[in-house]
Amino acid sequence: MRCDRIWRNARLATLAPDQPGLGIIESGLIAACDRRILYAGPEAEAPAFDAPERTNCEERWITPGLIDCHTHLVYGANRAHEFELRLAGASYEEIARAGGGILSTMAATRAASEAELVESALLRLDALLAEGLTTIEVKSGYGLARDAEMRQLRAARQLAAHRRVEVTTSFLGAHALPPEAGGDKDAYIGLICDKMLPAIAEAGLADAVDAFCESIAFSPAQTALVFEAAGRLGLPVKLHADQFSNLHGAALAARYGALSADHLEYTDEAGAAAMAGAGTVAVLLPGAFYFTRETRKPPVEAFRKHGTRMALATDCNPGSSPLTSLLLAMNFGATLFRLTVEECLAGVTREAARALGRFDSIGTLQAGKFCDLAIWDIERPAELVYGMGFNPLHARVWRGE
Ligand code: NIG
Ligand code: FE
Repeated sequence: MRCDRIWRNARLATLAPDQPGLGIIESGLIAACDRRILYAGPEAEAPAFDAPERTNCEERWITPGLIDCHTHLVYGANRAHEFELRLAGASYEEIARAGGGILSTMAATRAASEAELVESALLRLDALLAEGLTTIEVKSGYGLARDAEMRQLRAARQLAAHRRVEVTTSFLGAHALPPEAGGDKDAYIGLICDKMLPAIAEAGLADAVDAFCESIAFSPAQTALVFEAAGRLGLPVKLHADQFSNLHGAALAARYGALSADHLEYTDEAGAAAMAGAGTVAVLLPGAFYFTRETRKPPVEAFRKHGTRMALATDCNPGSSPLTSLLLAMNFGATLFRLTVEECLAGVTREAARALGRFDSIGTLQAGKFCDLAIWDIERPAELVYGMGFNPLHARVWRGE
């Protein structure tokens, strides 16, 4: 059978949902044709492939390429000065209420050109790519006005022209209230629904719509208005939910059939159950938990009990999680939230794909999906979760190359 390339003599963690655990295949082979996986399975059962390119993996492990399903990768400047304030005792919420936080990044992002935003984001993207990332979600939310939000989303889309990676974008206009709104959150939400979102949808700049539902941001009722506007435009929704308090954001997200609800430290069992029922993925962000020195953990036991799917992401952003490592996110997930190795690996592959609504084409090693692979110099998959700062990536394959 003709194909473009094969990788043989490999150990596969396919993450196929119909297989137990990691879907392990010892002595595996992957064949790629036209950017997609033609075959992923036991070498002994593989058809005889006629491939111009053949790679002997020497028993290395292959996982699906990693997917970071929640980032704020594109922004101006950084917030190291606020980190120093926090070290001196200020809290993340205090800094935000005093006009720092997201609003200080808003000012720097508005002041930056599109090219400058791309350039700084590429540095962070490269760190993620070096660990086998093949798909990344990038949010807006630091422009907080139509043109600045659109510039941020265009910069995110631009990343895919500079690197071999898939970028999905989420419009997060409802991230914080910009100063020119004069304290009127309802009016700003109206602006998002009537002006910003339609223009962004029209320009094809957003694959999903996100919001920050929190007392320092927007109420459940305001969030619902954004979700309804997204629904009218046919865009799926996601939510920053229950990060610092339980406003029942998880249940709200589930009610709107959200792809995911993210953070979830204060989510209750009813929220976990509602998410499971709606197929809304719980995206856990242990980097933000760690960096804000949160002590309340997301209800992992309730997620397991109800069968809520769990993904893991970096939440890479300048304020609450300046993290550019999915490997470290997995280690944090295991150490801080007590996730298993299997949950961590599924969380940055299969479940992350679901959180982006992309499970049909990425996230597992299965025929028909894009051939996005990470090839690792490890003896066992647990090493990917166990290490702290060590990167065992041997090679990254995006769309078969
Ligand atoms: O996901 N929670 C809201 N948004 C970001 C933080 C953004 C910032 O501090 O700049 C988050 O943690
Ligand atoms: Fe976030």
